[in-house]
Amino acid sequence: MAVRRSSSFLPYCFPLPLLLVILVAVPGSPQRTKLTTRVHGPAGSGDHWWKHAVFYEIYPRSFQDSNGDGIGDLNGITSRLDYLKDLGVDAIWITPIYPSPQVDFGYDISDYTAIDPQFGTMADFDHLVREAKKRKIRVIMDFVPNHTSDQHPWFLASRSSQDNQKRDWYIWRDGRVPTEPPNNWLSWFGHSAWTFDSTTRQYYYHYFYPQQPDLNWRNPEVREAMFAVLRFWLRRGVAGFRLDAVSRLFEDPELRDDPMLPGTNAYGDPNIQHKYTDNLPEVHALLRDFRKVVSEFPGDPVLISEADEPNIAELTKLYGAHNDEIQLPMDFQVADANRLSAPLFRTLFEEVEHNAASGQPYIFFSNHDQPRQWDRYGDGIHNDAMARLMAALLLTMQATPQMYYGEEIGMRTTPPARKEDVRDPIGKLGWPAEKGRDGERTPMQWDTSANAGFTSGVPWLPVPESAKQYNVAVEQSDPESFLNFYKRLIALRRSRLALRIGNYAALNPNDENVFSYLRRTSDDRHAIIVALNMSPEAQFVSFDLSALGFFAGALKTLLASPSGGAEVQPPGQVSLPPYGVFIAEIIPHVQ
Ligand code: GLC
Repeated sequence: MAVRRSSSFLPYCFPLPLLLVILVAVPGSPQRTKLTTRVHGPAGSGDHWWKHAVFYEIYPRSFQDSNGDGIGDLNGITSRLDYLKDLGVDAIWITPIYPSPQVDFGYDISDYTAIDPQFGTMADFDHLVREAKKRKIRVIMDFVPNHTSDQHPWFLASRSSQDNQKRDWYIWRDGRVPTEPPNNWLSWFGHSAWTFDSTTRQYYYHYFYPQQPDLNWRNPEVREAMFAVLRFWLRRGVAGFRLDAVSRLFEDPELRDDPMLPGTNAYGDPNIQHKYTDNLPEVHALLRDFRKVVSEFPGDPVLISEADEPNIAELTKLYGAHNDEIQLPMDFQVADANRLSAPLFRTLFEEVEHNAASGQPYIFFSNHDQPRQWDRYGDGIHNDAMARLMAALLLTMQATPQMYYGEEIGMRTTPPARKEDVRDPIGKLGWPAEKGRDGERTPMQWDTSANAGFTSGVPWLPVPESAKQYNVAVEQSDPESFLNFYKRLIALRRSRLALRIGNYAALNPNDENVFSYLRRTSDDRHAIIVALNMSPEAQFVSFDLSALGFFAGALKTLLASPSGGAEVQPPGQVSLPPYGVFIAEIIPHVQ
């Protein structure tokens, strides 16, 4: 196999032909891999369940339908708990299941303490939590604090008159002039963030759709009402919350215009910087209050934040100055790297794994808002291999991993072909530049039967063609499938101490193609090396085990992709096929 050398360590006992290849390929003087392992953060010492858990996001409309109406539901999820258990999942985050007009498919809530009938009943919910608990799977709810539905009784009251007791629960303002909104703020989902209400002749503010009016978090009654919501679900046995859109919770009280940027967006609006509607400092005091509320409950409830922070400094702030805000802030820097690049991932992981708050990183690549990783990162040729590599990256880091349903079977994004088929309103508004998010929300692919086993009715979104090949039933019986690769990875993460609690250190820091790292326990008794070839060419990588403190050590392969693809040449050299994965244990003393 033609290989290109990636690392620069040359052991004196190298076979001559290989040595020549290496010498030709590496200009300049050899640079030894340094032992850079640092003990940091509480990850190796604390025993919070959420540091060791594998989280799995379920989009309930699309996971499993149990009553033939074409929409997934709670009983459907319950019927698949054994599958999730077998996969190795420890916690499921279910996107909103509350009563909702479903304008934003559940993110427009009209009652925070009930279940939407299309998903089932409260008894179904309690049953799900109980059954999950039996399998040691925790349930995480989606908490949407920024806005309600315009059909929520609070908003109906608020909009009924200017002197209604709930008027101030939302953001109402006069227009700049009667026919113009109060300022230039734009909705994330297109056009003005202000909608005129003819009954009371004022505008209300909405960061998202007009049907999602923003709550006024400066009003103490709003705070208390929403804290009560958290308590309601914690009493029902949930293990925590994913907090939706938390950076949008406050707006500038002076309503200053946002700065304009060049160009226009997919909706034809001028680009603006959301300076006065995003990340206002008051967010942090509120996050501390959320944390206090959940801390009233036993079981170490967790808060996971959705906030696409622009850099590590802002992300780090979410942990709180005294680690008293969010335990697991979603890392959108890693999620949105959007290309496989060893230097880029090395930088991003260096930042987050060694963050100044010593907080536990939380990583993911796919979710219900962005195209799936199979396509988003894929190059059109190596997508399967690349998706496996991303699985290995996700599940071998010190960070807590979150999967998105279907990722484990290699599901791809399948956007609607025609505007008239679009269900997500942003796709209707932004077509064709913005096709909306239907593509990443298609039904889970369970088997080769009609509608891939998702429903006996007409599925709310069509089942992709690829379901015939990529589905749970087919993959379960193929040892080389995505599904079995994920299972092996999760089992490794669970069973190997180095992956469970080991510190993280990047290896071979100058390698442009292969992202390699060491996970090892602070007592040095357990160590695992991971090498991910992020290039379309075969690569050769070498590890200086003695510099890492493993004299006469050797590498023992634990998992590789493709299986048998990585070749180990003792004592620490490995050749990797394009987008190959190599995970090996360091055996300290071999005879
Ligand atoms: C979050 C959700 C997204 C929703 C938006 C408004 O970003 O993930 O799906 O549309 O908030 O609630």
